[in-house]
Amino acid sequence: MSAATSRDPAADAPLDTLADFPAIPDGWAYLDTAATAQKPQAVVDAIARGYGETYATVHRGVYQRSADMTVAYEAARARVARFIGAEPDECVFVRGATEAINLVAHGWAGTHLKPGDRIMLSMLEHHSNIVPWQMVAERVGAAIDVVPLDPDGRIDLDRMAAMLRPEHGLVALAHVSNVLGSVLDVRRAADLAHGVGAKILIDGCQSVARIPVDVAALGCDFYVFSGHKLYGPTGIGVLWGRAALLDAMPPWQGGGSMIDRVSFERTTYAAPPGRFEAGTPHIVGVLGLHAAIDYVDALGLPAIHAHETALVAEAREALGRIDGVRLFGPADSAGIVSFAVGGVHPHDVATILDEGRVAIRAGHHCAQPLMAALGVEATARASFGVYNGPQDVAALVRGVERVTRIFG
Ligand SMILES: Cc1ncc(COP(=O)(O)O)c(C=O)c1O
Repeated sequence: MSAATSRDPAADAPLDTLADFPAIPDGWAYLDTAATAQKPQAVVDAIARGYGETYATVHRGVYQRSADMTVAYEAARARVARFIGAEPDECVFVRGATEAINLVAHGWAGTHLKPGDRIMLSMLEHHSNIVPWQMVAERVGAAIDVVPLDPDGRIDLDRMAAMLRPEHGLVALAHVSNVLGSVLDVRRAADLAHGVGAKILIDGCQSVARIPVDVAALGCDFYVFSGHKLYGPTGIGVLWGRAALLDAMPPWQGGGSMIDRVSFERTTYAAPPGRFEAGTPHIVGVLGLHAAIDYVDALGLPAIHAHETALVAEAREALGRIDGVRLFGPADSAGIVSFAVGGVHPHDVATILDEGRVAIRAGHHCAQPLMAALGVEATARASFGVYNGPQDVAALVRGVERVTRIFG
């Protein structure tokens, strides 16, 4: 089905979108969407149109083409806002989730936290949601606490409740784990953080393409994600922040576009979001992100979630029946299945699967503290997207069976 024809979001029939993805050849099982999603033709077309037909700069030119591009750029911001239940001025375009977290670490934490304050993270965070906080903690003299996981691999919110203290200024947690697929109860986490006066940032990298997100309903303070995991281009992402918090944040990078007035005596800054978008932005990336959101919304996130949940259940069931396979994460993981094959290095698993035209990720998934907590160096990870179907699960299972045959 092409997403151009809008879908009933309540429909729970499997998605059939493979034909929308020009870079997925017949018979190739692409199971690395958690790393980066393949792009639908609609996104490829939007990028080609942006460079090949409508290209001009934004926010600067007085000529019509530039004015039109500015309208398109700001329309994309409004589209992002509508997608996550936010206001356009609260959505800052950045390079990706990594840059968004660094921006908050530098701009908010770096100016609001003081010596003795504490930052709370969890054991399953991606390095992008660990290292920026370590850097700012060192700079301001704050300490970091780490919430453990429950036996299923979910962030243990009961433990978090017990650990939170008034010194906590910020909590930063993943909405969906990129290794385990476990889904955070963001509303509860936000209430707990706010209970001690802390702000909460949610890393939405793995969630925006898998479950509906409404930042107002979730109650968080910052929400970040990357466009390329949402079927959009690389090099573009979003920082959403509550208006009052963005207002109170100093700029991070200086340059064109982020100013109000410049003189050698004194420079004043633009209001958010422009204050945080110094320099010529990734204009065409923004157009591609707009097309990606249109594509995902036309399929409907409830339908995408149902589709991926069914594939995860099928994969876990079939892999779990293979001797020596260890599954990580909860049964209701969102789109992601991490596993190990007894005695076989995950890189060997991935190499053998690749010979059978199955692409998975193997390694520490930029989550070395989680690997240590799981007691492994690395895992194999299959992650699903809208283009996957039962044939991909079957290819995965055949490949893993072959691994066990080869390694005896
Ligand atoms: C949970 C999570 N957070 C953050 C990131 C970083 O995203 P990016 O590299 O697009 O900035 C990733 C990417 O794998 C991720 O999965």
